[in-house]
Amino acid sequence: MIGKVTVAVIAGFAALSASAEDVSLEKDLMPLFQRSCGTCHAPDSGIRGAIKGGAFFNTKKDILGKVGGPIVAGKPEESGLIKVLKQEVKFGKRNIVMPPAKADEAKFSAEEIAKVAAWIKAGAKDN
Ligand code: HEC
Repeated sequence: MIGKVTVAVIAGFAALSASAEDVSLEKDLMPLFQRSCGTCHAPDSGIRGAIKGGAFFNTKKDILGKVGGPIVAGKPEESGLIKVLKQEVKFGKRNIVMPPAKADEAKFSAEEIAKVAAWIKAGAKDN
């Protein structure tokens, strides 16, 4: 019983901490993109040639460059980036999700995806 209450309180706190005004691209999201995507999707990752179209995810500029494309400001549910993070989209001839299974530990958690969604909902600003 106490366990369930504790879990509910923690879950409630996580939902609150992902509220729209709070999420900063710089402080909250960039470390996640760098950890999960930038290791491969950066100009100096060494596997650039393997990534067609060079979708980079290592700097604020990379992410802001996706606003108006796979990021629809104000509409996380229409944003392709959220679908990629939820692993609903597959890429390439090998039909792989991002991050690839071999880098599964880099996968965004549900709470982290909620943070990205909250930032998009608040207008996908340079903050
Ligand atoms: C272990 C290295 C690795 C990691 C980590 C990784 N990717 Fe990829 N990504 C690749 C490779 C390799 C391809 C090319 C796949 C193919 O065409 O077979 C790719 C392709 C893509 C593509 C489509 C092609 C393009 O460049 O436009 C997108 C979008 C993408 N990744 C997004 C992400 C996102 C977002 C993350 C973080 C959640 C991520 N990737 C993490 C290696 C990685």
